Amino acid sequence: MKIFLDTANLESIRKYNDMGLLDGITTNPSLLSKEGGDPKKAMDEITRIIKGDVSLEVVSTEFQGMMDEGHKLRKYGDNVVVKCPMTADGLKACKSLTNEGIPVNVTLIFSSNQAVLAAKAGAKYVSPFIGRLDDIGHNGMNLIREIKDIFKNYSFKTQILVASVRHPLHVVEAAKIGADVVTLPPDVLGKMLKHPLTDIGLKNFLADWEKLKNTNQNISI
Ligand code: G3P
Repeated sequence: MKIFLDTANLESIRKYNDMGLLDGITTNPSLLSKEGGDPKKAMDEITRIIKGDVSLEVVSTEFQGMMDEGHKLRKYGDNVVVKCPMTADGLKACKSLTNEGIPVNVTLIFSSNQAVLAAKAGAKYVSPFIGRLDDIGHNGMNLIREIKDIFKNYSFKTQILVASVRHPLHVVEAAKIGADVVTLPPDVLGKMLKHPLTDIGLKNFLADWEKLKNTNQNISI
């Protein structure tokens, strides 16, 4: 399973990229807005730091505007994936950009039917928002399971990119289902690193090493 970071925060992107954990990045207008400043600079920097796919989203709602913005966004780098919303115009733009060789991530997917249509339109990724479904009392992970089954039945090449992830258990569930990608807010990735027994174990190892050193000043690694 590939791990993308769902953020426009450069510090977090650098931090986790330096650990070799990131296969890509997803952004959206809300994430860019949260960081403030010039979004152009942020998009430029992100596409330089990350070698893998970087999803940058259009803000036009009609076909021609999406195409124009898609072409502009693609100039930030060959690794740019244009994110289009799950609308009729978004699917038309998905088809046209894909035909031009520009990969597309269809976002704001909330049903299997929407995922199938996006796959038919040639999307490289579909982004089902599981957390937002959970928020309204639906089961987001069931949607991932259903899309996975359908894509398998028909050998769709489109990758399932699990979005709107809220906690580490979502990641485990997505991996068990065999989702292609999870895109994680930095705090969720941070939580995945941690286990209290790791901290206790390390503390004890270091205390025991200190004991050994106290018996002989020449002890070293
Ligand atoms: O990348 C879009 C998606 O992950 C949004 O998540 O937390 O705003 O529902 P959220």
